[in-house]
Amino acid sequence: MGETFPPFGEAKPMSMREAAPLERLRIEQGEQATPLHSFAEDVGEGLLSERKRIPARHLYDAIGSALYDAITLLPEYYLMRAETEILTAYAGEMLDRVGGAEIVELGPGNGRKTEIVLDAALRRQPLVRYRPIDISFSALRALAERLVAERERLVVDAYCGDYRSALLDRAVRRDKPTLVMFLGSSIGNYDAAEACELLASIASAMRPNDALLLGTDLKKSRRELELAYDDPTGVTAAFNRNVLARINRELGGRFNLGAFRFVVAYDEARACVDSFQESLLDQHVRIDALGVDVAFRVEERIHTESSYKYDDSAIAKLARAGGFEVMAGWEDAAHRFRVSLLKRR
Ligand code: AVJ
Repeated sequence: MGETFPPFGEAKPMSMREAAPLERLRIEQGEQATPLHSFAEDVGEGLLSERKRIPARHLYDAIGSALYDAITLLPEYYLMRAETEILTAYAGEMLDRVGGAEIVELGPGNGRKTEIVLDAALRRQPLVRYRPIDISFSALRALAERLVAERERLVVDAYCGDYRSALLDRAVRRDKPTLVMFLGSSIGNYDAAEACELLASIASAMRPNDALLLGTDLKKSRRELELAYDDPTGVTAAFNRNVLARINRELGGRFNLGAFRFVVAYDEARACVDSFQESLLDQHVRIDALGVDVAFRVEERIHTESSYKYDDSAIAKLARAGGFEVMAGWEDAAHRFRVSLLKRR
């Protein structure tokens, strides 16, 4: 892929300063223009099943992504700040453990944390190649353009698509040591079986000396967790409710948003914060594009998100089940969050 950037041929790395920012950026569209499952398919299947659910990834349309960015500013939602603190303090140490690596990232989002790692890498390497994989083309383009505009020794090869697809295999190139980043407690959205399956597919794309940086939120009190996921300002409630509004906008849904309430509950046994939309009454909701009328009983819930929490042994167990071993871990000063470095077993 470096071939598409003549100024960056391996033979003449010193000419990189001459390359304009946009010549150091490439965005490749995955084979499937649509994600593995479309929004319409998932909504249809999820709302017609016994226990109603909508996969959490559908929370992130343009409005949902903007609301999530607002969540990260809330005093109650500590996750982003804690992980930023960890990366700011230890990114150099993390990179030194891998040594001269290319960096692949699954779902970088707005990339504020990415910049910390890339800047640490640029302090160690003359040239850094970064390969983000993200489902949103607009988010990917905005991120990639900003990164290359501000860093003249950075090359971005971006992949637009689902990171659970063959794109992962293409992004993790086998000719260079690679550091794969899966940050932000994104793994928390997956239950044990799904998380294990995802890690196993990441492992199969990696070589023994590559490493995976995995960000996990840590178990803590019910009070702290429920406040983080149901903030008094109501930003998280709006973020969650947006998925119903999105059904109205994109699928001709007739949800009356006022006829549902946002519910958050920490299930200590599963170490999981579950988020729901709960019907306030017996009602039917028509969704034109799906040709269905969905029946809701009063207090019936739609499960919209799982946010699993981890501790030492849960991280080690997940790593092993996914084909990895935990080599190191770093936490913020208040021990709320951990970034672990995993290598293939
Ligand atoms: C982006 C999946 C890490 O579960 O903490 C924030 C999303 N949901 N507030 C999380 C989220 C409600 C978030 N992740």
